[in-house]
Amino acid sequence: MPTVRATRRVHFSSAHRLYRPDWSEERNQEVFGDCSNPEWHGHNYELYVTVEGPVDPETGYVMDLKLLKQALNERVVDDVDHRNLNTQVSWMEGVNPTTENFVVAIWRRLEDHLPEGVGLAGIRLEETARNSVEYFGD
Ligand code: NI
Repeated sequence: MPTVRATRRVHFSSAHRLYRPDWSEERNQEVFGDCSNPEWHGHNYELYVTVEGPVDPETGYVMDLKLLKQALNERVVDDVDHRNLNTQVSWMEGVNPTTENFVVAIWRRLEDHLPEGVGLAGIRLEETARNSVEYFGD
């Protein structure tokens, strides 16, 4: 059975502030710059979730991407879209919401919510058109 990767892209907008409470305001500003604005700011995120598995001989699918879309909405997008990542998302509590920390948190939200035999292959998270991160699990 051939192994194929399939990707679903979703979009959401969230507010955040990059900040370490154990650092001074000056140090936060120096390291995190505009992303440390105390009055928040937002990003328009693009999230690419890639799954991998054998092609089902009956359906011709790795997995039904409708189900992936549904899992993405229920586990991630519904929680974060038009929300503040620092104050309104339980699974980001206590996490400095860099794109790196966010992509790992998203991985953990999804890894056990895929059909039997289908694995997470990679997640790409774009915070801006110029800045993105990728995570392939540990
Ligand atoms: Ni930012």
